[in-house]
Amino acid sequence: MGRLKELRNYVDQELLKMTDIGKRKGAYVHLYGVSLAATLISEKRGEETELACMAAMLHDLYAYQSGSYDDHGPKGAALAKSILETLKLTSDKETEMICSAIYHHDNKEVVDAPFDELLKDADVMHHTMNDLSKPIKDKEKARYAKLRVEFDLKSGWYPPSGRRHDPR
Ligand SMILES: [Fe+2]
Ligand SMILES: [Fe+2]
Repeated sequence: MGRLKELRNYVDQELLKMTDIGKRKGAYVHLYGVSLAATLISEKRGEETELACMAAMLHDLYAYQSGSYDDHGPKGAALAKSILETLKLTSDKETEMICSAIYHHDNKEVVDAPFDELLKDADVMHHTMNDLSKPIKDKEKARYAKLRVEFDLKSGWYPPSGRRHDPR
């Protein structure tokens, strides 16, 4: 079994412990959605796709387990480190890359290292593109606009009351 699959099996089991079914569904959808976005962005930017997907699978696990988003970047990075050290799927350097990306992922308004940026953008891609009719959070508007340019997205179909493709 590949190590991404192995990590996903671990995360799946952890999410199964969530008793609120609606939140559990949201957690699966978001972690796998960000993981797919991470594949797309890492392939575009020449970053390490497997590691990007692993970071995506772990990035909000702390928040789902604790029920709190307070400081969930740094706390999630510490959780991810202990999981990765237990599962022994990654080298020290890879663990550091994944944990750094998780540590910084909620700081959407600052620019960090390229691999950190990849996870932030994958998170934003899922938040903003999972449902184009939903409004975009102010702190994610600039990244959303940049992603549309990076992926050369043309204007498409929008519900009459929905958002425009170019937020301003
Ligand atoms: Fe998050
Ligand atoms: Fe997230």
